[in-house]
Amino acid sequence: MSNFTTITSKVEEGIALIELNRPKVLNAINRSMVSELLSAFEQYDRNDQVKAIVLTGNDRAFAAGADIDEMMNDDAITLELLNQFKDWDQLHTIKKPIIGAVSGFCFGGGFELALCCDILFASEKAQFGFPEIKLGVMPGAGGTVKLTKLMGQKKALEWLWLGEPMTAKEAHQHGVINRVVAPELVLEEAMKFARTIASKAPLSLRLIKETVYKAVDDSVLDGMQFERKNFYLLFSSEDQKEGMKAFAEKRRANFKGK
Ligand code: CAA
Repeated sequence: MSNFTTITSKVEEGIALIELNRPKVLNAINRSMVSELLSAFEQYDRNDQVKAIVLTGNDRAFAAGADIDEMMNDDAITLELLNQFKDWDQLHTIKKPIIGAVSGFCFGGGFELALCCDILFASEKAQFGFPEIKLGVMPGAGGTVKLTKLMGQKKALEWLWLGEPMTAKEAHQHGVINRVVAPELVLEEAMKFARTIASKAPLSLRLIKETVYKAVDDSVLDGMQFERKNFYLLFSSEDQKEGMKAFAEKRRANFKGK
């Protein structure tokens, strides 16, 4: 993989592991980091050997937000001309499962990055929050929208207006994250989950992801129509034939993602 400076990445047994790597600034997310993240995600998304992607930070911080130093002198026109959130938006085009493993601070843009993960594991000691209100701004990479969809408008307003951190337990209670685990087990549990789904039919994983995200905005009927089309589509895959044949033959299916 390319020579990244803000992240590290490697592939082990079909699982890609991407680690945010700006520890001196608590993994504050600058434009280079988003660009490198997108590049890594896109390469792994195209790589047939990779079945799932795990994204993590370090023990102290997943990421403490967008890099304040980088943007403090920006004005609205600069941000518009830079198309500040272009790479962020592209992160939502990744088709493979993304599992986030969060320890420490997960604030602002860091929280928004975590919310780009499909499944989130967090340490008991992780802290989530949108402190942007204290900087005179607000989330800009989907934070208000996603938090509202996950926890409902009244709770989202409370957290966004107060700007205070929520514990991993609170985030879990609000349906924002999937699991809270002991600090030393976060990455291990995320990798274990990634390995478990890596054995499933790749096309099913892909189309389930697409259908679930579409369902968030669709009416039930529209969502069901979309689901039906993807269900039919899977019947033109080799893996559907293999999966059902393996069931009949009482053996484990050997999925190829075709
Ligand atoms: N941007 C740039 N640098 C950051 C940073 C950020 N978001 N967060 C931390 N750092 C830097 C600090 O400036 C400090 O650098 P120096 O050692 O050179 O002084 C270093 O990381 C360590 O941080 P602290 O000394 O502050 O560590 P702490 O343990 O005392 O506090 C913290 C930790 C509570 C997370 C605190 O660093 C903090 O409040 N950070 C900012 C959090 C924040 O406001 N995030 C939102 C950013 S805006 C955003 O994300 C907009 C968006 O939607 C895209």
